[in-house]
Amino acid sequence: MDGGNQSIVSEFVLLGLCQSWNVQVLLFMVFLMVYLIIVSGNTVIVVLIITDSHLHSPMYFLLANLSFVDMWLSSVTTPKMITDFLRESKTISFGGCMCQILFVHFIAGGEMVLLVVMAYDRYVAICKPLHYSSIMSLQKCTGLVLASWIAGFVHAVSQMAVIVQLPFCGPREIDSFFCDIPLVVRLACMESSNLEILMNVDSGVVAVTCFILLLISYTYILLTVRQNSKTGASKALSTCTAHITVVVLFFGPCIFIYVWPLSITWVDKFLSVFYSVITPLLNPAIYTLRNKEMKSAMKRFRNYDSKGNNVQKFHERFINTWTL
Ligand SMILES: *[C@@H]1O[C@H](CO)[C@@H](O)[C@H](O)[C@H]1NC(C)=O
Repeated sequence: MDGGNQSIVSEFVLLGLCQSWNVQVLLFMVFLMVYLIIVSGNTVIVVLIITDSHLHSPMYFLLANLSFVDMWLSSVTTPKMITDFLRESKTISFGGCMCQILFVHFIAGGEMVLLVVMAYDRYVAICKPLHYSSIMSLQKCTGLVLASWIAGFVHAVSQMAVIVQLPFCGPREIDSFFCDIPLVVRLACMESSNLEILMNVDSGVVAVTCFILLLISYTYILLTVRQNSKTGASKALSTCTAHITVVVLFFGPCIFIYVWPLSITWVDKFLSVFYSVITPLLNPAIYTLRNKEMKSAMKRFRNYDSKGNNVQKFHERFINTWTL
């Protein structure tokens, strides 16, 4: 391609989601809207949970963390994708590319563990309700959140340590809208098939382990719910079904991209939209907005504003939670 000699690649070319100009303008508008909804929706959830003392319990702290993580996950790839829709040549610098890889894996890895923590929290609440407050203390919850960040960090850095050492000299076209490991490793000028497998195993192990743990928790939850069919079983069932839907939409594409041996580029490209855009959009809707407590928190929040007299108090509380 570009000479193919030992010149060092300083930037990569992203081929984007599609070629047609009209479709790209349409996608620009659609994804811009979606991204604005992701950022505002998730911000509202974080602010509501932090400021409303009714919601200061492990479950809601975990939800707030999920919203926080989702917002950043989509912010790593989506703004670049959106501006690229209107660009003729979609390039990304070598450093930018490495940053995308690092942060996508850091955040997505952390999010996967966080989803497991949330499922575990629900498992304890539903299957061991009498021991909930002793098993899931606020302290333990914070520890688990911290653990999920550390897991994501270790995962991302271990991948990064290998990738930055690869020689890139030849082709520099990435057939996607962001730099992802399988596509980038394929561009290295070396016999990279073993390495590619190794890297995919790293991501695959994280995704599959979390997925199996999630399946186990939800199976336990569903079994328990079926046994005590009197007490709000149908409500718990619908909540669970919604959670499982999100989990499948998030993990399905990741597992397909990293674990499935045959990769078809356009399918991978399409699937990566799911975990970088669709899940951050759906999570707030499914985990939070269907939740009764969150709905009444929103009502309280609005009442504060319309009455006016409580706004002062609200701001005080808001500032306190940030400075404490
Ligand atoms: C994440 O969870 C911790 C502890 O459970 C909580 O203190 C913190 O406020 C949460 N972070 C966000 C951004 O919601």
